[in-house]
Amino acid sequence: MRTQYSRAFLLPAALLLASLAACSGGGGGGSSSAAPSPTPPVVDAGLSQAARLGELIFKDQSLSASGKQSCATCHSPDCAHGPTNNLSAQLGGANGDVQGFRAAPSLRYLNQNPAFFFAKDGTPTGGIDRDGRAQSLAEQAERPFLAPHEMANASKQDVIDKLKKAPYVEQFRAQFGAAILDNAEQAFSRMTFALQTYQLEDTEFHPFDSKYDQFLAGKVKLSDQELRGLALFNDPTKGNCIGCHTSARGANGAPPLFTDFTFDNLGVPRNKKLAATADPAYFDLGLCGPDRTDLTARTDLCGAFKVPTLRNVATRQTFFHNGAFDNLKDVVAFYVRRDTNPEEWYPTGADGVVQKFNDLPPQYRKNVNTTEVPYNRQPGMAPALSPSEIDDVVTFLGTLTDGYKSNP
Ligand code: HEC
Ligand code: HEC
Repeated sequence: MRTQYSRAFLLPAALLLASLAACSGGGGGGSSSAAPSPTPPVVDAGLSQAARLGELIFKDQSLSASGKQSCATCHSPDCAHGPTNNLSAQLGGANGDVQGFRAAPSLRYLNQNPAFFFAKDGTPTGGIDRDGRAQSLAEQAERPFLAPHEMANASKQDVIDKLKKAPYVEQFRAQFGAAILDNAEQAFSRMTFALQTYQLEDTEFHPFDSKYDQFLAGKVKLSDQELRGLALFNDPTKGNCIGCHTSARGANGAPPLFTDFTFDNLGVPRNKKLAATADPAYFDLGLCGPDRTDLTARTDLCGAFKVPTLRNVATRQTFFHNGAFDNLKDVVAFYVRRDTNPEEWYPTGADGVVQKFNDLPPQYRKNVNTTEVPYNRQPGMAPALSPSEIDDVVTFLGTLTDGYKSNP
């Protein structure tokens, strides 16, 4: 999104290029043009054998049609298990030139993500993927191997034929049975089980060692600006971010996950960088389809997407389900200025009318959340956060990055 407001925040070109080179979280990563160098298959000694196999599979590029893509390509351990670049959607397929439909999420803290359910008051909650359609990490892991825009194998048999040539194939047999590879269906389900076990077991996916965690534990202090940002994040009349992104420890002392795993419709602008949007009839409606198919009749849920964790969000270069935003400051500004200054975010039609919520068909625009703070505003009203308060919230979000060292 380029808007009047965001232009004020554009970095000088040189800095911008530097920031595109890798996620800002850890040293590694790649750029949007060059493929990142593969992480060497060093496995964690503390893991079960199934989890270790899961790690080898997770990082094995030979299991893709291109031979150049693994789970770690889009979910890099060096970038909080998120993408290394600023592409709205990653590229996959046999030649690495097929664009996906959604921004690749971080895989951190999904070990606490419940399976999908409707809460007592009817609130859709949980589930894996941005539309909650997969019931488990194992079920989720099936699709990337076969999706034409991802690892693009022709069939499960195709994947198992590749697995047979992997350097760890004997370990796989030893773990799951000597004859396991004779049955592609069963072997494939062991692969996805191993991937799930790896994501659940390896604390690299849920280290709880951000500056904010250390602050909650009384080990470090937050700066004045970080504390101001936290207060605005929590204030029900200002950011009200805690309405969906929980920031306080649970009753049992459990660290906050910065998501309540519910779904919401934010009316995120249409992203023209997604090739699919060239078709004016294409809409990604989240809970009600097209990827998810069991809730198509629930038109009240069209446009709702899962609340993602905000842990490690400062390491990302693309935001929201459709990757419509490329910097955090714009995201926070969008929350508070969407309704006071819609012309900053949505195109204006030939009739001079701002096409608010233009990534939804007109009949579903009423589903967008316009009642909760900070969305409960009208043009002419003051945004819930001033520009300097937006800066404070962005600075606070920087404390949610894993691996904080107080004495580097
Ligand atoms: C080409 C990029 C790409 C590759 C390769 C890829 N993913 Fe993903 N991953 C995505 C995208 C995009 C999504 C969001 C999908 C959606 O919401 O429908 C996603 C979603 C997920 C999720 C759900 C996250 C959440 O917040 O609920 C998990 C778990 C996951 N991927 C694991 C894997 C595993 C395991 C592999 C390897 C077998 C893999 N991914 C390969 C791009 C990729
Ligand atoms: C009513 C629920 C709700 C409230 C309140 C809310 N959010 Fe969100 N947030 C969401 C949902 C849902 C998404 C994902 C939307 C999508 O993908 O289209 C999201 C996504 C985000 C993202 C992008 C994360 C990513 O990985 O792409 C950021 C950053 C964010 N929120 C920050 C905030 C801040 C800061 C506030 C307070 C000013 C806030 N949110 C208030 C529901 C909420």
